[in-house]
Amino acid sequence: MDSEPARPRAFSGIQPTGTVHLGNYLGALRNWAKLQETTDGVYCIVDLHALSVPREPGEIRRATIEAAKDLIAIGIDPVRSTLFVQSQVREHTELAWLMQCVAAVGELRRMTQYKDKSETNDFVSAALFTYPTLQAADILLYDTQIVPVGDDQRQHIEFTRDLANRFNSRYGDVLVVPEHQIPQAGARVMDLQHPENKMSKSADSPQGTVLLTDSEAEIARKLKRAVTDNDGEVRYDPVDKPGVSNLLAMLAVATDGDPVALADDYTQYGPLKADTSAALIELLRPVQKRRAELDDAATIALLEHGAEKARAVAGPVMERVRSAVELLA
Ligand code: TYM
Repeated sequence: MDSEPARPRAFSGIQPTGTVHLGNYLGALRNWAKLQETTDGVYCIVDLHALSVPREPGEIRRATIEAAKDLIAIGIDPVRSTLFVQSQVREHTELAWLMQCVAAVGELRRMTQYKDKSETNDFVSAALFTYPTLQAADILLYDTQIVPVGDDQRQHIEFTRDLANRFNSRYGDVLVVPEHQIPQAGARVMDLQHPENKMSKSADSPQGTVLLTDSEAEIARKLKRAVTDNDGEVRYDPVDKPGVSNLLAMLAVATDGDPVALADDYTQYGPLKADTSAALIELLRPVQKRRAELDDAATIALLEHGAEKARAVAGPVMERVRSAVELLA
């Protein structure tokens, strides 16, 4: 990775909080892999973000290694791209502090992810509240132009842009203002049992969540039992028909099709579920095969090398920021 790449830089992150699910994959990770063709990709496992809710010692370390395997199996090439762990590059927390200094409490209170999580968690940490300032630091440390994410991250990326612009108006033209990239289809994969909610790692709905590591039989079973509705019409309408539309959206991403057009091919839910299930199994088969071949030691070594590459970019950007703020060198 060069500090001034000829290709635009893409940056994104994922929390290591259990196995990657289909929402992560269809909404974001597939695009990370694809973007490697045209951009300089920097992909981060954000372990410090995952600590914003209480965890047992060691839990995040294990999950970090598993997440790295997921990403490599999905096709993130640790040689071509930079794949690293957030806590191994100290500049992230340093820049996060400076971001907190330009962030307003009122803005942070309006973040929907904070509102949702602070309502459902017993212990609401200060880190959960300042979470988006660390996310902004992640992105801005790499002079990022493109941030490939699912729809639920839209507000955080908008906030990152606001912080970068505010910082620049205070200290000069220091930070690159990034753009989000959210896919047409798959940006919001819904829970199979509660299709009004997004598929999520934290949701207490194992039957509604397809994991990257689920066996073919498990995927087939979960799809077969997916909640639909009673009107029997196959139509893409995420508001009135969230369950059926979710199936169509997943089928569309897996087959490079269009959810509205695909609806015309079906008159019943059964065949739609069967085809979606078959397409997803097909899509995940090579990923699962690659994942099974990866071992811990080699994965940890790849991450260490990734952190070195990341530091080579983050270090100079942090120096630029420090000198713009005029901190003592
Ligand atoms: P996280 O770990 O929750 O999710 C990782 C990526 O997966 C996407 N995603 C989904 N897409 C479609 N449908 C779903 N049901 C679904 N669930 C998750 C997310 O949009 C995300 O792109 N705050 C971030 C992590 C982060 C980050 C960053 C992202 C930290 N720093 C810098 C981008 C840039 C998060 O919790 O993602």
